[in-house]
Amino acid sequence: MWLSPLALTLILMAASGTMCEVKDVCVGRPGIPGIPGSHGLPGRDGRDGAKGDPGPPGPRGPPGNTPGSPGNDGLPGVPGQCGEKGEPGERGPPGLPAHLDEVLQATLQDFRHQILQTKGALSLQGSILAVGKKVFATNGQSVTFDAAQEACARAGGSIAVPRSPEENEAIASFAYKYNTYAYVGLTEGPSPGDFRYSDGTPVNYTNWYPGEPAGQGTETCVEMYTDGQWNDKSCLYYRLTICEF
Ligand SMILES: *[C@@H]1O[C@H](CO)[C@@H](O)[C@H](O)[C@H]1NC(C)=O
Repeated sequence: MWLSPLALTLILMAASGTMCEVKDVCVGRPGIPGIPGSHGLPGRDGRDGAKGDPGPPGPRGPPGNTPGSPGNDGLPGVPGQCGEKGEPGERGPPGLPAHLDEVLQATLQDFRHQILQTKGALSLQGSILAVGKKVFATNGQSVTFDAAQEACARAGGSIAVPRSPEENEAIASFAYKYNTYAYVGLTEGPSPGDFRYSDGTPVNYTNWYPGEPAGQGTETCVEMYTDGQWNDKSCLYYRLTICEF
């Protein structure tokens, strides 16, 4: 015997006491509520909320016991003023008299020897002449007055200037030997014909050629002829360099 699913349902419902009409929908009596289910797994964290306002400042802490590390050095101060000069120290023991000091004597001997050698060699060349306490020397070069002055200063001297007939003769001997005129160390001051030494001391010797100086202020240097007589001349010619020491 074949029973449709609906018929089967109706039979089963009748067997269990269910009131049932032959309809599509049956209304049963409410059952006993079931046991509540167990809690589900915890959900995911929510998103961060907005930042809260800062809290009020906390109370002041107790004073610390350990001091902080020292700070950096300050800027240097302004130097103080010099103190007063101290008393001179005690005088040292007396040295040996010079004539007993062997080292000093040997050094002096050596100097004397070297000076004599140098003077001897230079005078053989005819380029150095001693007159009284002065020494005249030439390098044989003919240059302008300024350049001659510079060369003499570089050598530790100054341009030769005759202050006596003997000195004039010594300087003239160089001019004669080199067969050329030489500048001497006098220059004209602001008023024409007023020739002076560079150190400003009064001129006490001259040896002008007759009629000289005649430049009337236009020739402010002095040249010496090969016979030792003087002429005022422009400072820009090339004349023999003679120095004195
Ligand atoms: C001129 O004076 C110098 C010293 O300044 C001296 O050596 C020289 O002999 C004097 N000349 C004359 C001619 O008196």
